[in-house]
Amino acid sequence: MDRQWWKESVVYQIYPRSFMDSNGDGIGDLQGIISRLDYLKTLGVDVVWLSPVYESPNDDNGYDISNYQAIMDEFGTIEDWEELLQGLHERGMKLIMDLVVNHSSDEHQWFVESRKSKDNPYRDYYIWRPGKDGREPNNWGSFFSGSAWEYDKNTDEYFLHLFSRKQPDLNWENPKVRQEVYDMMTWWLDKGIDGFRMDVINLISKEQQLLDAEGPEGQYQFGGKSFVNGPRIHEFLQEMNREVLSKYDVMTVGETVEVTPEDAALFVGKDRGELNMVFQFELMGIDSGPSGKWDVTPWTLADFKRVVSKWQTALQGNGWNSLYLNNHDQPRMVSRFGNDSSPELRNVSGKMLATLLHTLQGTPYIYQGEELGMTNVRFESIEDYKDIEILNMHKEYTAAGRDEKTIMESIYSKGRDNARTPMQWNSGPQAGFTTGTPWLPINPNYKEINADQAVADPNSIFHYYKRLIELRKQHDIIVYGDYQILREEDDQIYAYLRSLGEEKLLVVLNFFEAPAEFVLPDSIHFSGQELLISNYEIPAEHSLRHMNLRPYEARVYKLQ
Ligand code: NOJ
Repeated sequence: MDRQWWKESVVYQIYPRSFMDSNGDGIGDLQGIISRLDYLKTLGVDVVWLSPVYESPNDDNGYDISNYQAIMDEFGTIEDWEELLQGLHERGMKLIMDLVVNHSSDEHQWFVESRKSKDNPYRDYYIWRPGKDGREPNNWGSFFSGSAWEYDKNTDEYFLHLFSRKQPDLNWENPKVRQEVYDMMTWWLDKGIDGFRMDVINLISKEQQLLDAEGPEGQYQFGGKSFVNGPRIHEFLQEMNREVLSKYDVMTVGETVEVTPEDAALFVGKDRGELNMVFQFELMGIDSGPSGKWDVTPWTLADFKRVVSKWQTALQGNGWNSLYLNNHDQPRMVSRFGNDSSPELRNVSGKMLATLLHTLQGTPYIYQGEELGMTNVRFESIEDYKDIEILNMHKEYTAAGRDEKTIMESIYSKGRDNARTPMQWNSGPQAGFTTGTPWLPINPNYKEINADQAVADPNSIFHYYKRLIELRKQHDIIVYGDYQILREEDDQIYAYLRSLGEEKLLVVLNFFEAPAEFVLPDSIHFSGQELLISNYEIPAEHSLRHMNLRPYEARVYKLQ
């Protein structure tokens, strides 16, 4: 058992813009977060991951950074940030910061210089290329629709932006860029932070020929072959680790697009000297069709189990999983994999999913509001949406003649603003998030779903999370036990066993509304059982051999 504090921790992600507004401008801020630290302490989380709070023109809500060593005005000052760090540390919690270094903002001083002239000392901080036959240097599309290249008149060249045109990609081939990044990381670490979540970190190394991607003529294509886990990625991360991370006791989690467990082992393998964990996307892809995320298709439990099991077993003993079911880029988990059609079903399905999240092998990441069972939202008009990915897609699909209703339906299922509506603190005006006008409308269900209600109700999803987090502290097997799936072919129940020495943990989850029967395989022997948690009342006397599970019922037993 290779004990590590970050394996035993539960992380809570804060999306600052939507967490808590302290000054009535409708935008969440650092003082707002500070005012809710006791709430986080009550929940029991160990680590806070703060989505970007750096200076930014907010083309992509802070993921476009114009100064890595300054705080966004709307969020407060560096003194506020220091107070936040101190407030967390005083309460025994840690802080990890978002590191967004695949790209900066086009308003970053480096880029302002870079675009001035071809011989500017900062020119090579970014990826500039001349056009080809009067067009972009290649056919790559951006993650946010349209070309990945933007023409700049001033020097008659194009710069690469895998995301929005206000997010130019940094040129990691340039050792000066890498040194700037390492210095900046060191600056934050010396302020006392406890680690980084690294934005799209497996895209930083680009294959230098920047060849066209395969695909039909005249359409932008995903150029991933040239930059997903690019040729120098491991060299760069090992260098970063050597130069910076290895000098501190910190945790790292890399957001890695399109990685397989085999790729992941190269990022997180014990002796690789790179990262502690990665966020994989395979599970988040099980409801996408061939044309990508907006091509919404129903997910199946078979796929769900296949993907989770694959990752659980692949990293066992060599590396560590991150566990998440939603974040600021994904729809709300209870709406997507659970059931938000009634308060009762929302409650039990939210708890069932929470049980999964906290009893797999890996470090659980909770996204703000998940602990309340916050749901997706359906705004009537596109005008109410703010996310650049949604707005660009809407524009592109509308121009291509697609029907408005279908576009809106895909936004309702997959749009990132589902997760970004403000935290619902109470049933008062604007859900207690702000005294002003929120930057993104509040989900109209805040009167029923809010933190005040959840904290007051012992049967709430919130209290269930609290209990799960406590259990993790009490039972090593929940953190370190090996994983083994049971009755893999069952199309309604997800059951698995965790084992550590003589101990076993049995987890049985009914993933659907219909009741289901679970028969424990005869091969599993035990002499004693303890029910650790369940989302229903369970009679004191009952058999584990045959379980009749109610809608979304979840049970966790310790077996001896
Ligand atoms: C991933 C982030 O999580 C997302 O919010 C952002 O838009 C892109 N990376 C670009 O930074």
